[in-house]
Amino acid sequence: PPHPLEVIMVGAGYVGLVSGAAMARLGATVTVVESNPGRLTALRSGTIPLHEPGLGELVASERAANRLHFAANLAETALSAPAGTFKAPRLVFLAVGTPENTKPGQQGAADLSAVQAALDELASLLPPNPSLTILATKSTVPVGTGAALARRFQALRPDAPLVVTSNPEFLAEGQAVHNFLNPDRILVGLPGGDTPPSYVQAARQAYSQLYAPLVIKGVPLLFTKRESAELAKYAANAFLAVKIAFMGEIADFCEHSGASVDEVAHAMGLDPRIGPEFLEAGPGYGGSCLPKDVPALVASAAQSNITLTVPQAAHLANKARKAGLGGRMARVMHLAGKRIALLGLAFKAGTDDVRASPALDLATDLLSQGASLALHDPEALANARAAMQALDLPPQQSERLHWAPTLEAALTGADAAVLLAAWPCYKDIAPDHMAQLMKGRHLFDFRRAWQPQPLRAAGFTLHAVGMAEETIPSHCDSEL
Ligand code: UDX
Repeated sequence: PPHPLEVIMVGAGYVGLVSGAAMARLGATVTVVESNPGRLTALRSGTIPLHEPGLGELVASERAANRLHFAANLAETALSAPAGTFKAPRLVFLAVGTPENTKPGQQGAADLSAVQAALDELASLLPPNPSLTILATKSTVPVGTGAALARRFQALRPDAPLVVTSNPEFLAEGQAVHNFLNPDRILVGLPGGDTPPSYVQAARQAYSQLYAPLVIKGVPLLFTKRESAELAKYAANAFLAVKIAFMGEIADFCEHSGASVDEVAHAMGLDPRIGPEFLEAGPGYGGSCLPKDVPALVASAAQSNITLTVPQAAHLANKARKAGLGGRMARVMHLAGKRIALLGLAFKAGTDDVRASPALDLATDLLSQGASLALHDPEALANARAAMQALDLPPQQSERLHWAPTLEAALTGADAAVLLAAWPCYKDIAPDHMAQLMKGRHLFDFRRAWQPQPLRAAGFTLHAVGMAEETIPSHCDSEL
C-alpha cells in the first residue's frame, strides 16, 4: 500500500480546521499550522474555537489516532526536514483568510497578503533541492492566483520543484464536517502550460489517494484546468447569492400581491432546472463567504474589463435588504422608546458566526431609531457582543443594548419580537408563554419559522417576510 500522505494545512480557521481534521479521518497524516498563539494553545488543549457540529469529536479522535497535529509555523512542521525525508509527495494546503480588501481603489477585491506570506514562508524554509511540493489553495482566491503564486515561488526558489493546484471547498457552516465527508463533488484544478507533466501527474495521484475513501463511495473527483476550479468556486457562490437575492425580491412582491413565497418557491423548485434549494427568502444573506465572494468576483472580472451585472445586482440587492429591515418594521409600528427582542444573531441558525449577519445591521438601525434592544442567540451571543462593541456606538445608543442570557429574558417586557435566525428554540416556544412574557403583540418573522395560526390565536400580529397578513386565511394554516 502507498505511504500515508503528508498534509500540511496552513490556517486553523474554519476551513483549515475542518478540512485538516477531515483529511486525517480519510487517512492522511495532517499538521495544521496556526500562527495565532491563543488559538493554537486552545487547539492543543483540546478546545475547539468555533461552533461546528461534530468537529470536536473529529479533532479529538484524529489526534488520539496520531494523524492530526498542530504547529505554530511552517518551520515547526516536517517541511524543513532534509531532502529525501519524504516518502510520498507532500501536499501543502493554504487555508488562510482572503478578506475583503479595504485599500482605496481595491475595494471589494480579495486581499491575498496572507496567501502570499504563507507562500514566501514556504519558499524560505524548504531545504536545498527538495522533492516535489504540491501546493493547493483551499482559500477562495480570484482566478489567476494559482499562476501568480507559481511565478512568485519560481522567482524565490528556482531550485525547488512545486506544482500549484486549486482545491476549493464547498463547506457550509453548521454542516461543514458532514459536507466535507459527503461532498457533491471534489474539484481539483491542475496547471497546464510549462508545468512539467510529471509534476501534474504526481499531483493527480496525490489527490486521488487523498480522496480515495470518498471516491469509492461514488463522489465525483473532477480534475479541471486550474483557472476553471478557481472560477467555479466563485461562480457557485455567486449563483447561490443570486438565487437568494432573487427570492428576496419575489418575497417582497408576494407581500403586496396576496401570494405566499413558500408556495411560490415550492412550485418553482419542483422544476429540476431550478431545484428546490436556496429559494428561502429571508433577511438577506450573511456569513463569511457570500457577502465577500460576490464583490470579489465582480472586482476580479472588472480587471479583465468584464462587467458581471447579475452578481453585482444580487450584491446590491442584498445590501439594501439588510439595511432596510428596520424600515420594514417602522412601517408597522413606532420604534422610538420601544423595547425590541432580537432573536437569532448568527447569520443563520446552526453557527455562532455573526460575520455580515443581518442582525447586526438591524440592531444598529433600530438603535439609531431610538429603540431599546434585548438580544438573544443560543450560541452567538459572545461573538455578537464583540462585533457590536467593535462598532464603537455612542453611549446613548449602547446603553439601550441589553444582552439576554435566555429567550425568556429577551421576551420579557418586549413590545415586539423579531426572528432573524431559525434556531429550534424559537420555533418551539409556546405562543401563550410568549404572550405572558411580552408587553406588545407585534412579531416579525424574517425566516417564516413561526406558525401563524397558534400565534394569532394567542393574540399576536405576525409580520412574516413573503406573506401578506390578510393573505393567510385560517383554512390554509391548518394545512401548513
Ligand atoms: C456558503 C456556501 O453554501 C458554501 O458552499 C460555501 O463554501 C461557503 O458559503 P455558508 O456561508 O456557511 O456557506 O452558509 P449558507 O448555508 O450557504 O448560507 C448563506 C446565507 O444565505 C445565510 O445568511 C443564509 O441564511 C442565507 N440563505 C441561504 C437564505 O437566506 N436562503 C436560502 O435559501 C439559503
